[in-house]
Amino acid sequence: HDHVTYNVAVLPGDGIGPDVVSAALRVLGAAGEAYGLRFAFSHLAFGGAAIDACGHPFPDEVRAAVAGADAVLLGAVGGPKWDALPRERRCETGLLNLRKHLGVYSNLRPVRVFEGLEGLSPLKSEVARGTDLLIVRELTGGIYFGKPSFNTPTEGVSTDRYTRGEVERIARVAFEAARTRSGRVTSVDKANVLDVSQFWRDVVVGVHESSYPDVTLDHLYVDNAAMQLVRDPRQFDVIVTANLFGDILSDLAAVIPGSLGLLPSASLGDGPGLFEPVHGSAPDLAGKGVANPVGTILSAAMMLRHSLDQGEAASAIEAAVQTALEEDPTTDLGGSRGTEAFTEAVLKALPTPV
Ligand code: NAI
Ligand code: MG
Repeated sequence: HDHVTYNVAVLPGDGIGPDVVSAALRVLGAAGEAYGLRFAFSHLAFGGAAIDACGHPFPDEVRAAVAGADAVLLGAVGGPKWDALPRERRCETGLLNLRKHLGVYSNLRPVRVFEGLEGLSPLKSEVARGTDLLIVRELTGGIYFGKPSFNTPTEGVSTDRYTRGEVERIARVAFEAARTRSGRVTSVDKANVLDVSQFWRDVVVGVHESSYPDVTLDHLYVDNAAMQLVRDPRQFDVIVTANLFGDILSDLAAVIPGSLGLLPSASLGDGPGLFEPVHGSAPDLAGKGVANPVGTILSAAMMLRHSLDQGEAASAIEAAVQTALEEDPTTDLGGSRGTEAFTEAVLKALPTPV
């Protein structure tokens, strides 16, 4: 594999976005040297940075570049400077359009409590300790996109709709992920009340029986799942769920590790995947050199695993992050390292070039 060059579209964005992205690119570069991988990074202005440059958060040249890339690495967008713009020219609209443009229908959000950092969790340490779960959220269907959808003075209507194909493909993503983890999938729905959820459950069961009998599947109602996530998060491995439930449960689960700065995400479709930390542009930290780069570094690791088929390099990055966190984490985690010093520690913990 040492003759392939991976083309990565890099969208640093705004606020702390450029800080955490440049940290992740250094780590990718070093992992590339250790594993004989070559990258071509094309840096593109996106979000507020693009509004300043050309008046639009998601310019046509970025559209073309991301579609032709092997993967997309994004920092974060937005900030007070652009908050007053009309909706169609806002940074958030650019981000939604980017996801739609790439057709990324599955959103993967791993939630892990690192050893020694349990004390940061808002949950009791003994409850949080050892949490290691993955939320697989359907991202392009369900009630966020269902038609009809409208408001009149007398009623408001949204429609929750899933096709068999939409549920099958997200179920497959979850079962495949479970095979690389501890082999368990929990499908979360509201099948006791909603027809669309009963349909979801039936389709997930069908995919399980026909293709993934080696994976353990169970089902939870979403209200119970929310309760179980805070009562005993360790019981979960892979959670697969519809767009709306996944939006809520993934934000709920994101507070378990104690800092937003730790959390990575991957959004996958049939084309290039989109990899970004869960946090925003943190204008309060911009330019201070203290942003936690872990979420972005782990997003880059997910990119290696899910889009570039380089699972070994991905695991090496994850292990190096863990080592660096155990030595001395970033200031948001009660440690003493800034972005730069922490990144150096990750680089040092990576295997050396062969
Ligand atoms: P935020 O995630 O930027 O910040 C929330 C809190 O977490 C802040 O106290 C911040 O300092 C802290 N934090 C976030 N990332 C951190 C990191 N890497 N290291 C250490 N601490 C970190 O969310 P907020 O404040 O609601 O939004 C700020 C801006 O970001 C807004 O303009 C918002 O629209 C945008 N945003 C963008 C997102 C994206 O690009 N995907 C997602 C969420 C918000
Ligand atoms: Mg959300």
